[in-house]
Amino acid sequence: MPCARGTLPSRRAAHRARRPSRWLAFLTIFAGYENSINLIGNCVLALLQRPELLAEVRADGAGGARRAAIDETLRFEPPGPLAIRRFALEDLTFGTVTVPAGATVLLSLASANRDPGVVDDPDTFRLRRPSAPHLGLGHGPHYCLGAALAVLEADVALAELLRRFPDLRLARPDEAPRWRRSFRTRALSELPVSLG
Ligand code: HEM
Repeated sequence: MPCARGTLPSRRAAHRARRPSRWLAFLTIFAGYENSINLIGNCVLALLQRPELLAEVRADGAGGARRAAIDETLRFEPPGPLAIRRFALEDLTFGTVTVPAGATVLLSLASANRDPGVVDDPDTFRLRRPSAPHLGLGHGPHYCLGAALAVLEADVALAELLRRFPDLRLARPDEAPRWRRSFRTRALSELPVSLG
């Protein structure tokens, strides 16, 4: 689903295409780190806002509910709401929209993750959905290279946080969360909590 279009691929994008290994190294080091910390923050927020789900996660010693919460965060509040830019090599028509050859295409993974045709009650954060495929880590040949690492990091961080702080809660539960002003990342600018 195209949500923005430009003209011809930029010089920077063309440069990246000529040096894929350098671009892959950049992604591995920087994009992986930023997305991973934001996944942890977004998941902690989702659980602190829903004490009944937090209690379920705490009660499940085997960790299944914790991993379900991480997966649901990747669907509900993906740290990377947009895919990496694509460029149309030829005119492409989706329904009534034609993307002209050469246009920049931004794919909204966050929007696809809330497709009511795919996910039941998509605007609700739930644990253990019967099926909720999502694009939070991409799909196909460009599926996230660090997916297993990212999920493992979030699992370890969340388990340790909940173990060390049994009374963790939102410090200002009546205030709206503060998000960074960015359409490329879904990241909290702060998460004030009370530890006990
Ligand atoms: C929660 C953390 C992460 C999220 C949400 C995430 C998300 C994504 C998404 C959506 C894509 C596909 C982009 C597209 O098709 O346009 C992707 C690709 C990629 N990710 Fe991640 N990522 C995460 C962590 C990491 C980590 C930890 C690493 C490296 C250690 C990493 C390295 C990469 C690389 C290299 C690609 C490009 C793969 C390719 O084009 O073949 N990511 N990631």
